[in-house]
Amino acid sequence: MTDLERLRSVNEPLLKWYCLNARELPWRENPLPYRVWISEIMLQQTRIEAVKPYFERFMKELPDVTDLAKVEEDRLMKLWEGLGYYSRARNLKKAAEQIVNEYGGQMPSCYQQLVKLPGIGSYTAGAIASIAYNETVPAVDGNVLRVLSRVLASREDILKQSVKKRMEVMLRETMPKEAGAFNQGIMELGETICIPNGKPRCEECPLMQLCLACQEKLTDEIPFKTAPKKRRCEERTVCILEYHNQIGIRKRKATGLLASLYELPNVEGYLKPEQLAEAFGLDSEAIISCEPLPAAKHIFSHVEWHMAGYRIRLGRELPKTYISVQKEELKTIYPLPNAFGRYTKLIK
Ligand code: ADE
Repeated sequence: MTDLERLRSVNEPLLKWYCLNARELPWRENPLPYRVWISEIMLQQTRIEAVKPYFERFMKELPDVTDLAKVEEDRLMKLWEGLGYYSRARNLKKAAEQIVNEYGGQMPSCYQQLVKLPGIGSYTAGAIASIAYNETVPAVDGNVLRVLSRVLASREDILKQSVKKRMEVMLRETMPKEAGAFNQGIMELGETICIPNGKPRCEECPLMQLCLACQEKLTDEIPFKTAPKKRRCEERTVCILEYHNQIGIRKRKATGLLASLYELPNVEGYLKPEQLAEAFGLDSEAIISCEPLPAAKHIFSHVEWHMAGYRIRLGRELPKTYISVQKEELKTIYPLPNAFGRYTKLIK
C-alpha cells in the first residue's frame, strides 16, 4: 500500500471515531471563525483544561474582532497572563486591526487570506478554515504529525518544516470533505489515544489495523525528533519590595523576553542580603527588614531562570524608579507573568 492509499484509509474509521468521541469543548459549541481562531492560538503550547477558563473570560470581555482590535495592550496582557508566549496575544491584536481595516471587521473566509495575517501560519489557517468554513485544508500540528508518522511508520524528523510540508501536501490529496471533523479527529486522537512518550493506547485506537508503527511495534521510536537544544540557565535574585500596602514593580522593555509586561524587581545573579540595597537602588537606612524567600525555577522555551528571593520591607516611600501599586491592583490591572508566580503568591 502506498502512503497516499494508507492515508486515505484513515478517513472513514477516524470520522466514525470522532463522531462518537468528540469532547465537548467551549469553542466547539459555536464554532464561529473568531472563536476557533482564539481557541487555536490559546491551545498552542497550553493544555486544553488550562485553556478553558481563559477562553471563556476572553470571549466575555472581547466577544468579537472589533473588540480585540480596540483592546488596550495591558488589558490584553492581563487576559493572557499565565498562558505564556505573550507575542501570540500581540499578534492576535495586530491581526484583528488588519481584519478591521482590510476586511471591514469580518473574519476572512478562506485559508489563503487567513494565512497572510500576523501570527496565523498554515496550522492555524487550516484549523480556522476547516472548522469554521469546512474548507478542505489540513491543519497539521505536533499531534497530527505524531499520529500520521506512526500510521505511516515514517522515521523522518517531525520537527523539520519540510516534513510538515510534505504531510500537508499528502493530506490535501487524501482528506475527506468533512474537513473540520477530520482535522479535529486526528488532533483529538493524538491528544487522547496516540499520546507521546512511548505509551499510546493502541487497543483503543480506531486506526490500529492500519497503523504500521503499531503493527511493527515501533511506537517507542516514532515519531522521531532531533534532540532539542539545551536551555541556557540564568541565576536571578527577585524581590518583593513593600511599603505598607504598596508593592514596587517595573515595566519590562519593549523587546525580548516577556516584552512590555510588568515584573517584580529582579537582577542577575544570586545576591547576598548586604548587596540588595545597592542592586535595587535603595537607601539601606530605609530598609526595615529583609527576609529570604524560597528558591524558585521557571522554564521558558530557551532559558531557565533559577531564582533566589527576598522580601524587603521599607520604612519610607518606594524610589521613583519603581511603579508603586496597591496589592489589589496586582491582581486586577498589571500583567505579571507566571515566571514570578512563586513570589507574587507570597504577597498577602
Ligand atoms: N488541539 C488544538 N486544537 C484542537 C481542536 N480544535 N480539537 C482538538 N484538539 C485540539
